[in-house]
Amino acid sequence: MIKQTVFGTTKDGREVKEYTVENANGMSFSAIEFGAVITRIFVKDKNGELADVVLGFDSVQDYENDDTYLGAVVGRYANRIGNATFTLNGVEYQLDKNDNNNHLHGGYNGYEKRVWTSENFTEENGEGVKFMLVSEDGDQGYPGKLEIAVKYTLTNNNELIIEYTGMSDKDTICNLTNHSYFNLAGHDSGDVLNQLVWLNSDFITEADEASITTGKLVDVKGTPMDFTTETAIGDRIDADYYQIKFGAGYDHNWVIKSYEKGKMNLTATLRDKASGRKMEVYTDLPGVQVYSGNFLKARIPGKNQAKYTRRTGVCFETQYYPDSINKPEFPSPVLKAGEEYKTTTIYKFIVQLGLFGDDMENNNFFAMLSRMKYINRWGLMRNTIHENISEHSLDVAIIAHALATFSN
Ligand code: BGC
Repeated sequence: MIKQTVFGTTKDGREVKEYTVENANGMSFSAIEFGAVITRIFVKDKNGELADVVLGFDSVQDYENDDTYLGAVVGRYANRIGNATFTLNGVEYQLDKNDNNNHLHGGYNGYEKRVWTSENFTEENGEGVKFMLVSEDGDQGYPGKLEIAVKYTLTNNNELIIEYTGMSDKDTICNLTNHSYFNLAGHDSGDVLNQLVWLNSDFITEADEASITTGKLVDVKGTPMDFTTETAIGDRIDADYYQIKFGAGYDHNWVIKSYEKGKMNLTATLRDKASGRKMEVYTDLPGVQVYSGNFLKARIPGKNQAKYTRRTGVCFETQYYPDSINKPEFPSPVLKAGEEYKTTTIYKFIVQLGLFGDDMENNNFFAMLSRMKYINRWGLMRNTIHENISEHSLDVAIIAHALATFSN
């Protein structure tokens, strides 16, 4: 089901439409023409209660005044470009220095501040809305007239699929991402430090004090950057480690394992034990910036007057690596004239039914076993397990199930 309303009007008098799309499970998202911002994502918890799990504002003016990119599509080049300059085909381009000496998220006139055009659609795998933008030759200092579209599809598998497409009439660079801040306990529930993150990554791109990549990859093993096993965001966020200090917490690019251009990868998960909500992030891009909202300051009140203070949301910005145009050793963000830019990112939401979740968490297999005795239908159990626990735990659960069955 799609509903279209007027969200508000920009300060120069342009009307901004909002679309709300709901699937068969009662999950929904809303997005507006301003910045192609995702304003709301309502997801059920283990008791069937809906909560809005992204930070956002109630008015266009708040989005116009925001400097934290809440929910927006950022570009033409998401993340930083060192010294705000790059050379392409022998020509040097100068960009805005909007982050000290560097360029961040497209500079002072980012795509998050534009009014995009829009159309809604219903397709076989879901419904949604597509936002379109023309970025003229020379816009923000980049070469080439770039025409882009960002398509949000909500499926009945609780996936929000984001497809970015584009084409430029000259060689250029392009790196589009979504800057949603997630809080699976609800956008107004305080910090995300107890929420658990897993990342499909053994390396970060090392950053300097200004968050510019050095070109070096750092192995995460034995460091606070290691999320190869699920870990709470807050456990090591203030650790005495040079990368953490440079980012004032997590604000780094993780190198996605087994990246192959065009191939979708499970990249990250975020989980809130108390509500049973879990999110999986898939992308075909080589990197993901995990940003723990270290610079949020509640400068502007959020939806329903919520206070978005430090670390009350976490972003998973799928991307080409920061400053990759100046680092030839990194996957290239160059978009050739006339070639299609096409990348996909999926935020998929899962509800953990709470049947095994906490027991598995505490390694309390006895409690789990006694509950399992009452579940004889393998199909039901398999589905429940699949929804509730990680791959590794699945093996353990299957063995436990076998034991439970034989001990009857
Ligand atoms: C960056 C942060 C920056 C933030 C702005 C993130 O994508 O990695 O360093 O402060 O955007 O909201």
